[in-house]
Amino acid sequence: MSQKYFIVTYGCQMNVHESEKIAGILRRMDYVESDKLENADIIVFNTCCIRENAENHAFGNIGALKKLKKQKPETLIAVGGCMTQEKGKTEILRKKFPFIDIMFGTLNLEELESLIKRKKSQKKKVIEIREKEGEIIEFEDAYRTSYPNAWVNITYGCNNFCSYCIVPYVRGRERSRKPEYILAEVEKLVKEGYKEITLLGQNVNSYGADGSTGMTFAQLLDKVASIEGKFRVRFMTSHPKDFNEDVVRVMAKHEKICKLVHLPVQSGSNPVLKAMNRRYTREKYLDEIKMLRSYFPEAEVTTDIIVGFPGETEEDYLQTEALVKEVDFASAFTFVYSKRQGTKAAEMENQIPEEVQKDRIMRLVALVNSLTRKKSEKYVGKTVEILCEDYDEKKGLYLGRDEFGRMGYFASMENKIGEFVQLKVTKANGISLFGEIDQ
Ligand code: 5AD
Ligand code: SF4
Repeated sequence: MSQKYFIVTYGCQMNVHESEKIAGILRRMDYVESDKLENADIIVFNTCCIRENAENHAFGNIGALKKLKKQKPETLIAVGGCMTQEKGKTEILRKKFPFIDIMFGTLNLEELESLIKRKKSQKKKVIEIREKEGEIIEFEDAYRTSYPNAWVNITYGCNNFCSYCIVPYVRGRERSRKPEYILAEVEKLVKEGYKEITLLGQNVNSYGADGSTGMTFAQLLDKVASIEGKFRVRFMTSHPKDFNEDVVRVMAKHEKICKLVHLPVQSGSNPVLKAMNRRYTREKYLDEIKMLRSYFPEAEVTTDIIVGFPGETEEDYLQTEALVKEVDFASAFTFVYSKRQGTKAAEMENQIPEEVQKDRIMRLVALVNSLTRKKSEKYVGKTVEILCEDYDEKKGLYLGRDEFGRMGYFASMENKIGEFVQLKVTKANGISLFGEIDQ
């Protein structure tokens, strides 16, 4: 029997680990990974729909396969992820791309193997999108691609219904994984040599909030960081409405936990935060940063910010700028508000004209970049611990990150991937650091 090949793509950062699970399913079915479309026997798109451009990107990528499918009709094309869970989207996908063979949702990813088998036994396309979230199905054989980092889900779904966000509609209500599974997974990963564990959830702070796990996020974090071995622990995403001192106390107890919190603020203006249904104020957010830095003055914070939300005035926007300066974020993901059908914000009046949105995002990006650059410059002359994660062929340098997520490059004759190295920083360039290994 000849070898069968697969390709899995992912639409956004949140989908990376899910794509690793899909790849795990395909490997279990004896497919091996390929990077050439023409070799692939199955191509799986794990789509994202959080913003319109992610969706357009997916449409573009799927559309580009039309020719290939004509030349090689036996190539299976499967589409999964958030887009297929969106109301009415499967119908649109089906009409626009009649050559799709399989469609599956975020809530029935585990069924992919049986869906592929079913498709192979019938001519008709297979469309199976589960509407309602069920029990969490534990998943053992993800095919991890980000060594020495490993992603570990702690919750699925989201209950927050921020008024702009489609995630609760396409990923269902929040469910927490049982602590024993999480701890066993982390132990196994550490034994296998993973050096950085990132606990994942849309709002990690509400882990176990439904009483189903018998422990809070702070307690879980404490247990994860108590596992023996040299490795780092990160977690994301924290929600400012639930982030609390219990978590910070656990961070203080363990050197393993990176003193970096990803705490999306979204806006610096109270009226906008209220309209976004974020359920905290600018003042509460700033108090949390103060509390965090009272434990660790060196703590870094990264964030997500949306500009051009319906009704956002210039004054609101300037409040965001002021907050960005006050917090002095290590970095920020900045987004232009994107209207998502079915969300509350899509119905709001005062949608902001595109030129205004563009102007604001440009100003905000310039501000964030200038802060990041300043921070990088402060590194020069210092020695930081970097976890080496890759080799950059173009630069001919190894690269890795420090505890605060800052990228550092260095030369080495030996393969350093998966090792902690002391990097003496000699140069800073925008968001990246360059240096030499300090023996
Ligand atoms: N438009 C723009 N940005 C959005 N995000 C979520 N929904 C939207 C939207 N409709 C951003 C938020 C969130 C991040 C993952 O994506 O900032 O924190
Ligand atoms: Fe979306 Fe808000 Fe849930 Fe984050 S917390 S996934 S922004 S609804």
